This record gives sequence, C-alpha cells and structure tokens, in this order.
Amino acid sequence: MDTLAFDIYGTLIDTDGVVSQLREWIGQQAETFSHLWRSKQLEYSFRRGLMQRYENFAVCTRQALEYCCDYHQVLFSPEQKDAILESYRKLPAYADVDRSLTALRAAGHSLYAFSNGSVEAVEEVLVANGLRDLFLDVVSCDPLKTFKPNPDVYHYFMRKANASDDAWLISSNPFDVIGAISAGMRAAWVRRSQQAIFDPWGIDPTITVSRLCDLNEKIASYQITGGNAANKQSHRPPEEAADVLR
Ligand code: LAC
Repeated sequence: MDTLAFDIYGTLIDTDGVVSQLREWIGQQAETFSHLWRSKQLEYSFRRGLMQRYENFAVCTRQALEYCCDYHQVLFSPEQKDAILESYRKLPAYADVDRSLTALRAAGHSLYAFSNGSVEAVEEVLVANGLRDLFLDVVSCDPLKTFKPNPDVYHYFMRKANASDDAWLISSNPFDVIGAISAGMRAAWVRRSQQAIFDPWGIDPTITVSRLCDLNEKIASYQITGGNAANKQSHRPPEEAADVLR
C-alpha cells in the first residue's frame, strides 16, 4: 500500500470558493479577481523561495490580495479584507474529496496532507471541511522556510512520512507534479478541467485522472502493471546537481 501526499489548495480545496463573496462586492470582476489572486499568491511563493526571503504562505496570500485590489482598482475596507481572508482560511473542499479519500483509506493507503500552507492553516481548512481525520498527518513546507517546487520540500515530505521514492504526490497543480517527479517521487495529476494545461517540459505525470474518485483504480492498475517504464521520468540525481555547483 502506498504513501499518498495530497496537495491542498487547488487539489482538495477550491481556491475559487471566495468567488460568491467577491461577486457581492465587485460583481463580474469576481472570477478574474479570484484567478489573479491565486496566481499572484503562487508567484509570490516562487519568488520568495528563490530570493530566500521567506514569509509564510498566509503572507503571500495577503500580499497577493493587496496586489489584486490595486490591479482591479477596488477599494476594500480593512474589515472586508479581514473577512475575505477569514473565508480563505475556511475555503470549501471540492465535492468529490470526502468519498474519494475515504475509498483510498479503505484500500489501505496512508494519506498525508502536504502543502505550502502552515500546519495551522491546513489543519483549519481540513477541520472546517470535516476532512482532518482522513489524514495521518499534515506536512508543511513552513519548517524549511521555502516553498514547492524546491526539491528539498519533497525530500522533507518523504523523510517525515518515512516513505521511499515510491510515494505519490497527488496534485492538480502541474508545477507541483513536475516538482515531485523531478525530486524522485511518483505523481498523479488531477486534471479537474478540460481547459487545464500541463506544462510542456517533457516531464509527464506518472498518471493523470480527471476525477479524484478515479485515483484508487488508477493507482491499483499502476501497481499491477508495475508502471510503464516510459512513465518513469529521469531526473537529475542530487550528485549531478552537486557537480554543477563545484
Ligand atoms: C499547496 C499549494 C500548491 O497547497 O497550493 O501546497
């Protein structure tokens, strides 16, 4: 049975869950605001990771909100900003999460939450959705003071979960899937919409599902066939990376 590391935001938890609140305040701009908010939040995490100017994911989220207000030229009061950030801490899960994770647990897999978010933030959103008990533990990038897709965070996950390189990352975020495979894990891409595009980097997901509820069967058939050799991505081993630095 496998160790499964579930990405949280965008995979289990719907970051567009704030759209209905935003719609009351800014009408038709709500969806583009929400999408920009999410992409700026990630951009800030990537940049902070690269620059080694770490602030936790909640800071990236708050600063991305400020950026979006300026970009869309909307003036939210401090109370509105607090309210929307409070909603963000309790974002809703996608409808298929509970039953899919319950089935994976029943099949004997070990489930972990694995996120850029702090342990407290991830615990809060999982508890709000009644999902916390499905996971053995919550593993956050926070103690490393960097973010996905730094390979260190995937190696840290494997150490924390006492897992080998047959552990899986499950994510809807292509950058996360590529990061995990590149760091030596297997990874399932949850392609939640037909519009979702996988980055053409020549590093493909080990498996792809369009619905979380298909994961159990896909992982089982991957185990039976032993995985297709073509699916096993080569990645630069740490020694080679070290050579470059010498
Ligand atoms: C997370 C980010 C990728 O949950 O949203 O780790």
